[in-house]
Amino acid sequence: MTSQTDSPRDSADRVLIFDTTMRDGEQSPGATMTLEEKLQIAVLLDEMGVDIIEAGFPIASDGDFEAVTEISKVLQNAVTCGLARASKGDIERAWSALQHARKPRIHTFIGTSPLHREHQLSMSKAQVLDKIRETVTFARSLCDNVQWSPMDATRTEEDYLVETVALAVECGATTINIPDTVGYTAPRESAQLISMLHQKVPGLKNCIVATHCHNDLGMATANALAAVEAGARQIECTINGLGERAGNTALEEVVMAMKVRRDILPYRTDIDTTKIMKASRLVSTVSGFSVQYNKAIVGKNAFAHESGIHQDGMLKNAETFEIMRPEDVGLTESNLVMGKHSGRAAFKDKLAQLGYDIGDNAFQETFVRFKALADSKKEVYDDDIIALIEDTQTSTVHDRMQLVDLSMICGTRGPATATLVMEIDGVEHRHETTGNGPVDATFNAVKALVPHTARLKLYQVHAVTDGTDAQAEVSVRLEEDGKIVSGHAANADTLVASGRAYINALNKLMVRREKTLPRQLK
Ligand code: KIV
Ligand code: ZN
Repeated sequence: MTSQTDSPRDSADRVLIFDTTMRDGEQSPGATMTLEEKLQIAVLLDEMGVDIIEAGFPIASDGDFEAVTEISKVLQNAVTCGLARASKGDIERAWSALQHARKPRIHTFIGTSPLHREHQLSMSKAQVLDKIRETVTFARSLCDNVQWSPMDATRTEEDYLVETVALAVECGATTINIPDTVGYTAPRESAQLISMLHQKVPGLKNCIVATHCHNDLGMATANALAAVEAGARQIECTINGLGERAGNTALEEVVMAMKVRRDILPYRTDIDTTKIMKASRLVSTVSGFSVQYNKAIVGKNAFAHESGIHQDGMLKNAETFEIMRPEDVGLTESNLVMGKHSGRAAFKDKLAQLGYDIGDNAFQETFVRFKALADSKKEVYDDDIIALIEDTQTSTVHDRMQLVDLSMICGTRGPATATLVMEIDGVEHRHETTGNGPVDATFNAVKALVPHTARLKLYQVHAVTDGTDAQAEVSVRLEEDGKIVSGHAANADTLVASGRAYINALNKLMVRREKTLPRQLK
């Protein structure tokens, strides 16, 4: 295994993109992802040109350990990063998960602010310094690429922050990350903090300085870019800004801001921006967090022009109202595709055009489902195909529970009756039950076959395209003992999509039950 430090300075204007969708993003209640889903995201991020992928927090659960291990095996270019608290046990566990990585990085952190020292750690300033010395030195004895973070840095006393950063650098940290853990800072202050550290810690010139912003006051993107202007050369971010509370800095926003405003933000990333929409859709599907319609860059309306004046301007010259081209972020018009007579070759071609290269098995399954959809729906659009692919990727053969068959009697005359057949651990089970409407009956049938105490927190239906024959995309969120999971499915039949989304959430609940470590991170 080669262990190498990614070069911070292939040129002064290069900003490294550190994606933490699968670590900080997954900490968002309900965003639990399965291993297969994480692998899909990791491969896409790697292809996109993300420099460092924080794949998980190996001590948190066997699932996180496995995710870091398996992701590290598939990454071709990106550094694989594993998170560890300031303890030798955590660091050893992270290092052992990184054994197959071409480029491993250990990321270790400790709270430095008075609130964190006193209330979370019950440690004095001197004790925290001792821990930093012990753990950064230990991490560096294992791996030559070590990132250290003073958690809640933006609420830490300035002099003390300088002392901790200088110590971490002296002990061998190669990246120093400055987190705004609670989304408290503002752009000018974010920049001042980075400049101040550069001035007062001379050793920082040999390190990469990173910025890690949370979005509680809606300033994460602005704060991250201000930090870059002050000398930070790594931005920590997530796709769609996923993350707990108000989320993290959105990858697509900082990357596109630096691309579109190169005149005033003269920095460069290696991101292939045409893969942004695909990454956004994938993360939204697997996390069950829909993207708000007016979200910058990736929202459904980000490039839509409704008003007469805008439409008129756009027809004359797109630049009148558009500062970037939809195709720069991988957005193509949702074209009418093909019908039930389209063959495999044409379908394969379409997938390639849409940027999907799925394996043979997934191709066969998606093709069969496309044919069934084309039979039931006159017009099949690109968005339908994307929903099909993502749905096929969401439910995998490794899921313990699958929906096999669902039929329904419902209408004006009384309670709806659902008859459901499910495969559970390879064995088929059937149940018939009633409910207050067809969705309720379907969910009751699932619950009878898979008894559980999880509570339904969200049931949401979206139409993929226009028209009454549109596919329904359903999201379901469940909570059990404070653990939240989301399930997702798409189908031309809203009830089938609902049942499958519910079962998808239950499959994730099995994964989530493994995560035993109290998650106190932000
Ligand atoms: O927000 C935060 O402080 C974190 C650290 C673990 C870097 O996510
Ligand atoms: Zn964070």
